[in-house]
Parts: sequence; structure tokens; C-alpha cells
Amino acid sequence: MPIRQHACACLRLLLWLVVAIGAPVNTLAAEHGADPASPSTVLITGSNRGIGLAFAGHYAQLGWRVIATCRSPDRAEKLQALAQQHDNLSVARLDITNTAQISALANDLDGMQIDVLINNAAYLGDAEPQQFGQLDYELFNDIVNVNLIGPLRVTEALLDNVAASRQRKIIFLGSAAGSNGMLGPGLRLYAYRSSKAGLHFAAHELAMDLAPRDITVGLLNPGIVDTKGVLDLKPGDPVPKVFQPLMPLIESGELQLIRPAESVTGMAKLIDDLDAESAGRFWNVDGQELPW
Ligand SMILES: NC(=O)c1ccc[n+]([C@@H]2O[C@H](COP(=O)([O-])OP(=O)(O)OC[C@H]3O[C@@H](n4cnc5c(N)ncnc54)[C@H](OP(=O)(O)O)[C@@H]3O)[C@@H](O)[C@H]2O)c1
Repeated sequence: MPIRQHACACLRLLLWLVVAIGAPVNTLAAEHGADPASPSTVLITGSNRGIGLAFAGHYAQLGWRVIATCRSPDRAEKLQALAQQHDNLSVARLDITNTAQISALANDLDGMQIDVLINNAAYLGDAEPQQFGQLDYELFNDIVNVNLIGPLRVTEALLDNVAASRQRKIIFLGSAAGSNGMLGPGLRLYAYRSSKAGLHFAAHELAMDLAPRDITVGLLNPGIVDTKGVLDLKPGDPVPKVFQPLMPLIESGELQLIRPAESVTGMAKLIDDLDAESAGRFWNVDGQELPW
């Protein structure tokens, strides 16, 4: 083994031993260069629209350093407008299925602390090709690649950045639709629901793996969030396709739609409160624990 690699391996072992015997968080953060006076940093995936955009706005407003990633920065008008308003928000390109882009971002961020990594990006896909008997396996593959494999790839690549920070939190956006304990007669979405069920399991595994390094893993359900502007529809306006089957339940009040900002306020509190005890469990936006 070359001397440099050997020295790195020794350093990692030493660090692990320090963690294992319980170094105070602040001491460890200081060893990694975490400055207690500097603002916290959050990195969000899929932040050009929906819940991700609301997360970016929320943390920018709080004065955090925000690294807002998205697939196509040139076409992310709302996110770019937010960046114009907040010096503390920077936009970075990241397709979470693209290993070269993940490595490039990890390279660019080498040595930077990330207090909270929010794995938000996901792909719902159309409903019809997710019905048994007409399953589109290419789409199935794409959905699993984005929703399950993507967040793990990003997390592996940025783990050292999180480990070097003060807060050391990794968040996954799960879904009640992926909860094995909440199976009902609802929508059949084989790929989306399976991908989120897999993500729940992976988050649970990761919570156990990273606890000894004092990194906490949070798994959150954002609620049923109106990312398509359904709450602002006027009578006669066309209903977005994905919401069409849900409209009777929304109109009867059986399903409560909430706005992205409301969901993010709830989830940001859960992220603030996240600790070793709540890590690896599945939390609804309102603070109720859900079966995963
Ligand atoms: N909305 C809800 O009611 C609800 C309920 C339960 C769970 N969730 C979860 O909450 C999270 C956010 O949901 P949302 O409703 O805000 O979703 P959304 O409106 O559909 O937005 C999805 C985001 O993910 C991005 N994305 C898709 N594929 C990507 C890839 N390969 N690489 C990087 N980014 C990619 C999209 O970017 P483009 O614009 O480039 O496509 C977009 O920014 C998701 O994990 C979702 O599963 C949402």
C-alpha cells in the first residue's frame, strides 16, 4: 500500500476509535474543522420545484448556507430567482442517477461540511404503466434508480462532508405509499411504492450503520403535498393528471392536501429535533410515528 494511502487508512482507523470511545460532538467537529460560529449548511436534491424548492427557500430564509441541486440549473427559473434573493444559496447541477455528476459534485465540495443532507428528489411516474399486467419495466427500473439507488449513491459520495459537520444529519423523503404497515386499497403504483418501501429499508439499515459515527438518519413522510397547484384551481380548471384519481377524496375532505411550505415547516422541525432515539424510524410531517 502506498505510504499516503496507508497514512489515510491509519487516520480513518484513529478517527473511528475516537468516535467509538465517545468523543464529544464539538471536539470531533473541531477536529474536522467545523467552526461553531459559522452558519449551518444544507444540501438538497431536486430543489428546482415542489418540496425541494420549498426546503431551499426555508433554509435560505433562516440564513443557512444552502446548496440547492437540480438536474437542469439553466431551466430552474424559480430556484434561480431564489438564488438572486439570497447570497447564501448556490445552485449546483446534480442528476442523482448520474455517477459522473455525483463524483464531480463530491469533488467540488471536498472539505466542505454539510450539516444536513436532504435526499428529496424522486420520480413518481405515470400510473398506467405501473399497473400489473401492463408493467413497463424500463420505467420501473428508472423509478427504482431515482428513488432508491440515487439517494444511496449521493449519500455515499457526500458522507465525509456530513461526518465533518456539527449536525451530521442525513434525511430521506419516504412516503406513506411505501409503508408496508399502511397497505390499503389505495392507488396501485408498483414501481413507486416498491421503490419507497426499499428506501425505507435502506434508511433503516443506514441509521444503524452510521449511529456509531454519531450521524443521524431521518426518514420523513411529507404528507400529501400540493406540488401541482391543485389548491389554487378555479372551477373548470383542468386537474393535473396525477391528482385526478384523488380528487373525490380531496373534495370530500378524506385526504388533506397541504402546501409545500407547510410541509417543509413541519419537516424542518422534525429535522431539528432528530436525535439518536428518533433516527431510523419513520415520521409523518405532523410528528406522528408511522409504520415503515
Ligand atoms: N408531494 C407529495 O404529496 C409527496 C408525498 C409523499 C412523499 N413525497 C416525496 O417527497 C419528495 C418530493 O416530492 P415532490 O412532490 O416535491 O416531487 P416533485 O414535485 O415530483 O419533484 C421531484 C423533484 O425531483 C427531481 N428529480 C427527479 N428525478 C431526478 C434525478 N434523476 N436527479 C435529480 N433530481 C431529480 C425533479 O427534477 P426535474 O424538475 O428535473 O424533474 C424535481 O425537482 C419525493 O421524494 C417524494 O417521493 C411527496
